[in-house]
Amino acid sequence: MSDFGHSPVRPYARIALSIGVAALATQLVGCGKKAASDEELAATLTQPVASIVLQAAPAVKAGNRTGEQIYTAVCAACHDSGVAGAPKAGDKGAWGPRLGAGLDGLTKSAAAGKGAMPPKGGAADLTDDELKRAVAFLTNKAGAGFKAPE
Ligand code: HEC
Repeated sequence: MSDFGHSPVRPYARIALSIGVAALATQLVGCGKKAASDEELAATLTQPVASIVLQAAPAVKAGNRTGEQIYTAVCAACHDSGVAGAPKAGDKGAWGPRLGAGLDGLTKSAAAGKGAMPPKGGAADLTDDELKRAVAFLTNKAGAGFKAPE
């Protein structure tokens, strides 16, 4: 049970569920008017399900996630596209000047957040090792050659 104590999944799922139920109730009340098209109704009904799936995505236990799993789930949102000035994965020009900080320095920087990047990329539940694995995965795409912690 204690595993769930720290998990952000349940509260969000519950909130999403109640929103879903509320939306459903609204739809049912409005049924007589036949206002909502079937498409709108379908969208309303599938939305909460989608958010639950998103929130539940990290199936691997916190603490044991690999750099790649974390990168894909959290960091890729910005570092794949380079949105908001994020150095793109694999972009040696963008990463070159940063790599001198070393894996520890970059991990510290990522933990604290920098510029448009929130602390830990917004994933507050990442352990230090997990964050370091993700930083290694990301920077090694640009040829850093860092060794990620086990
Ligand atoms: C919301 C977008 C966003 C997310 C999500 C995000 N980053 Fe970033 N990241 C940035 C931006 C923007 C910068 C550039 C910050 C600057 O130099 O001003 C950056 C910079 C970095 C740096 C370089 C820091 C430095 O000191 O030069 C590292 C390392 C990094 N990110 C790792 C990660 C990792 C690992 C994740 C996933 C756990 C992640 N980022 C998720 C936007 C993001």
